[in-house]
Amino acid sequence: MSRMHNLGGMAEPERETTNLVDTEHERVSDGSVRDISSAQTPADSMTRDAVLASCMRKTWSIDPESMVSFGARERTRVTEEFRALRSRLSQLQRENPFKSVLVTSALPKEGKSFVAANLAQTMALQSECRVLLIDADLHNPRLHQALGTSSTPGFSEFLLQEVDDFGIMQRGEAENLFFIPAGRSVTGPTELVANGRLKSLIERVEPLFDWIVIDSPPAVPVSDATLIANCCDGVLMVVRSHSTPFDLVRKARDRFREESLVGVVLNVVEGTSAPTKKGLAKISRAGDQKDAHSF
Ligand SMILES: Nc1ncnc2c1ncn2[C@@H]1O[C@H](COP(=O)(O)OP(=O)(O)OP(=O)(O)O)[C@@H](O)[C@H]1O
Ligand SMILES: [Mg+2]
Repeated sequence: MSRMHNLGGMAEPERETTNLVDTEHERVSDGSVRDISSAQTPADSMTRDAVLASCMRKTWSIDPESMVSFGARERTRVTEEFRALRSRLSQLQRENPFKSVLVTSALPKEGKSFVAANLAQTMALQSECRVLLIDADLHNPRLHQALGTSSTPGFSEFLLQEVDDFGIMQRGEAENLFFIPAGRSVTGPTELVANGRLKSLIERVEPLFDWIVIDSPPAVPVSDATLIANCCDGVLMVVRSHSTPFDLVRKARDRFREESLVGVVLNVVEGTSAPTKKGLAKISRAGDQKDAHSF
């Protein structure tokens, strides 16, 4: 049975942090700051924090148009909507533990990358909530532009067995957000995604994170999203409001196991009316309103 109905629950009490750390130090659980510039190669015996401390430090130059929730000190309608989406997924996670969420849609330009990036960032605002954002769209990678960072080495180099998992994982100034970019452009991206290495990547990094959010190509024109969904716990379907034909939404939905669908995000919604259906979240057009509204 679909779990979509579960998204309609109450918001959980949330703890947020906007603490930033510099490129040479990490804040540890007792509040002190430790030197990580000499972090060792990851090994199974290392703690979660030590393993994560060893991934690449990058200077990210965040695009505020794409990452509306970054920093999140200003509560706009859209940032509130992302918090509400986070709350619903967190409640679902408590009821039925899952970590990896594929963000997809039927067609191009519905807002998959926008939703994936801002959802991951909003999740990472909670203290002690480690989030990994993966750009698995090898057809049209965009997340590295939103974060203002390099796109290589990344997912494609990992699938090609050129670099290992921690060699492709970046972190910027944000304490809890980690990022795997798409990597270099390849011929035959769908065949590469099908090679099975994604499953091993997710299995290996899953214990280190509270959430793994994966961006993907549109589900109708290419089959990458269906392949990736087989390695994920849940699928979040983005539908661009007043744009995507209903039959194509249904066609995209049919590409996934019904039980893997965790909800639908109606994106670029105009006006203020709240969705009433369970399993449906809405994201307004960013930049439309600067005042805060919850829904
Ligand atoms: N809620 C929103 N408010 C404002 N702009 C948005 C919103 N959602 C998406 N956009 C913008 O619409 C454009 C397309 O969004 P995005 O790149 O996320 O779509 P996509 O589904 O990932 O596209 P593709 O299939 O090409 O990967 C981007 O410029 C993005 O910033
Ligand atoms: Mg995209």
